[in-house]
Amino acid sequence: MEWKTKISNFTEEESTIRGFDHENLIGKISFSSMIYLLLKGRMPNENESKLLDAIFVSCIDHGIAPPSIISARSVASGGNSLNSSVAAGIMALGDYHGGAIEDAAKLFSSTLDVSNLVKKYLDKKIRLPGFGHKIYKESDPRTKKLFALAQELGLAGKYSEIAFQVENEIFKQKGKKFCLNVDGMIAALVLDLGFNYTTGKIFFIISRTPGICAHVHEEITEEKPFRRLKINQTKYIGN
Ligand SMILES: CC(C)(COP(=O)(O)OP(=O)(O)OC[C@H]1O[C@@H](n2cnc3c(N)ncnc32)[C@H](O)[C@@H]1OP(=O)(O)O)[C@@H](O)C(=O)NCCC(=O)NCCS
Repeated sequence: MEWKTKISNFTEEESTIRGFDHENLIGKISFSSMIYLLLKGRMPNENESKLLDAIFVSCIDHGIAPPSIISARSVASGGNSLNSSVAAGIMALGDYHGGAIEDAAKLFSSTLDVSNLVKKYLDKKIRLPGFGHKIYKESDPRTKKLFALAQELGLAGKYSEIAFQVENEIFKQKGKKFCLNVDGMIAALVLDLGFNYTTGKIFFIISRTPGICAHVHEEITEEKPFRRLKINQTKYIGN
């Protein structure tokens, strides 16, 4: 059985990624442009590359508290390798943390009737992916910044519009603000950039992995091993 790929070809005669000579790209294009080429199969223009770069910067780190960083640092603290600890951090990304990009992008790409869609979710008490935040209640500052840049670059399109319509509709129907969070904004922007919703999780994994690496390295080199919760941070509640 053959393993086929359209992505790259590395033989003695040629080293190509999406048809471009790999060596010729080194030192010529940015890391974000390379990722765009790898995922999309064509070279981005200058504005597309700028926006993708900003997306990666926007969620590279968000402090020590989120599940991915706590998981990664806990695994490192138990005495495991950097590789295993980083992998543990990535494995903690899920539907409520980073993974919401795919679900939100699927939602935005299939939405014709925003009002009905929001009603369906709220009636069934299902959380709308890409909305709400533990810290940011009124608005997510990363969303604001990304949207402003996308507008400036002429890349904010119909999916960004749908995303903000959903935000307004949730407020209208629920009477409470659930802001378009950075996952939701990225979901809309990657659709506006022409990516399929199925690529959604990839953008968060690529962005947050350097952050996870930095935290794991700090844990291994600067902290004592075997972190555990203090007794006053735990509570036995019986059965
Ligand atoms: C991010 C998130 C976990 C923050 O939650 P929170 O502000 O701590 O809110 P809670 O988990 O305490 O939920 C409070 C109420 O708001 C509701 N709620 C929270 N986010 C909601 C959403 N996106 N859509 C609809 N309802 C939502 C909860 O169902 C809950 O309702 P209830 O009181 O009737 O049970 C939550 O908003 C969420 O799950 N969002 C969707 C996933 C997502 O986009 N994650 C990426 C985060 S950057």
